[in-house]
Amino acid sequence: MEKVVVTGGRTLCGSVQVSGAKNAALPLLAASLLTDKEIRLSNVPNLSDIQQMLALLDGHGTTINYNHETKTCALRTRSIKSEVAPYDIVRKMRASILVLGPLVARYGKAVVSLPGGCAIGTRPVNVHIDGLLALGANITIENGFICAQTSQKRLRGAEIRLPMVSVTGTENLMMAATLATGQTILRNVAKEPEVCDLANCLVAMGAHISGIGTDTLTIDGVEELHGAEHTVIPDRIEAATYAIGAAITHGDVVLENVIFDDLSIFWDRLRSAGATVEELPGDSGGPRAVRVKMDQKIREVDIITGPYPGFPTDIQAQFMALMTLCSGASMITETIFENRFMHVLELCRMGANITIHHASALVRGVGQLTGTNVMATDIRASVSLILAGLAAKNTTEVHRVYHIDRGYEQIEKKLQQCGAIIERVAI
Ligand code: EPZ
Repeated sequence: MEKVVVTGGRTLCGSVQVSGAKNAALPLLAASLLTDKEIRLSNVPNLSDIQQMLALLDGHGTTINYNHETKTCALRTRSIKSEVAPYDIVRKMRASILVLGPLVARYGKAVVSLPGGCAIGTRPVNVHIDGLLALGANITIENGFICAQTSQKRLRGAEIRLPMVSVTGTENLMMAATLATGQTILRNVAKEPEVCDLANCLVAMGAHISGIGTDTLTIDGVEELHGAEHTVIPDRIEAATYAIGAAITHGDVVLENVIFDDLSIFWDRLRSAGATVEELPGDSGGPRAVRVKMDQKIREVDIITGPYPGFPTDIQAQFMALMTLCSGASMITETIFENRFMHVLELCRMGANITIHHASALVRGVGQLTGTNVMATDIRASVSLILAGLAAKNTTEVHRVYHIDRGYEQIEKKLQQCGAIIERVAI
């Protein structure tokens, strides 16, 4: 086991290279199951969730060549060796559900462990299951596994309205529909940049998809998909996390490799909190850089999370850490997950003044946070505690750091390069 020890009071100044997006890379890796040709991905972040997905694909028969230095990953599934996604992997990473659609579409069957709940909510998968049923799959739940197969040789296109906006639900059904016979229309789909990144890669593989970035996707199935090369988009959640690090420490940080428009509402809220946010010219046509400075008191800002382009739920915990030091009171409402305030009690142990009222948390700003021992419970809650520790006096020890490693590549190194005193300690 390990813990991260943060010594507060340092101002973050310098630059951070933002990695490839975890939540784009995971579905892109699963998409390699859809073809027997090679998929070459670049800008793939080196995270434990990525390693879990690669282990899962290896079990299905995918040959994998992941270069940690160049962050490129070549994948090829000449044939499916096993249709089983085992509980031991799925329980560690819910995004394993993303192999369900591709396996049924390419191979005609899949046996995927039900993911179960997690710290932030029950997180059912009815959207995935009901959508595949509509595409002609036969599905039973046996001993905690989703057992799916196609009665005909292939899935058949259908018109499906998702009962709620689901990111991986959209991704699973879009992937499945690329190889179905006929046309599939998916309504009420997620529009997150990561969903669009997957759609763009599928098109590069020969899929016929229109409506990318809108509420409705139209997919005309094809016989087979071919190989492609694709660069994973930058991780907007990681970028926002370090932007808040600059703001909470009254620092000045340049974020390299950012697609500015993927975070529009976040930049608006961060500016309202008093930060200066400046988009800088990147390489010609490539992702840009963003400079975030905070040279005034942190002002209170209310946020309500929502599906893209709303305020991302994956930035809620980090923004709350910032609001614990605001000059007034901030109301933070979480509309996506029913239990995504696990960080509140830990922040209160550092001296924050937060009261929860159902789906909303009232954050009354305090003058100072004080470091102490705190417990991480999920990826974003854990990093919010590190952000609070950067601003707190004394030291903060964050336990269960395996949560952090699921979503943040080399976080200590990136923060140290901006002047933070942070280290990982074995316990
Ligand atoms: C994706 O999870 C992300 N994970 C999450 O990021 C992110 O918080 C979430 O989308 C929302 O943006 C990946 O992309 C790998 P949903 P996902 O299906 O797809 C309910 C992180 O920290 N729902 O959009 O699982 C669900 O319970 C992670 O990087 C159903 O009821 O989320 C939730 O309340 C955490 N039935 C809401 O919909 C379903 O079948 C949105 O969930 C599916 C979802």
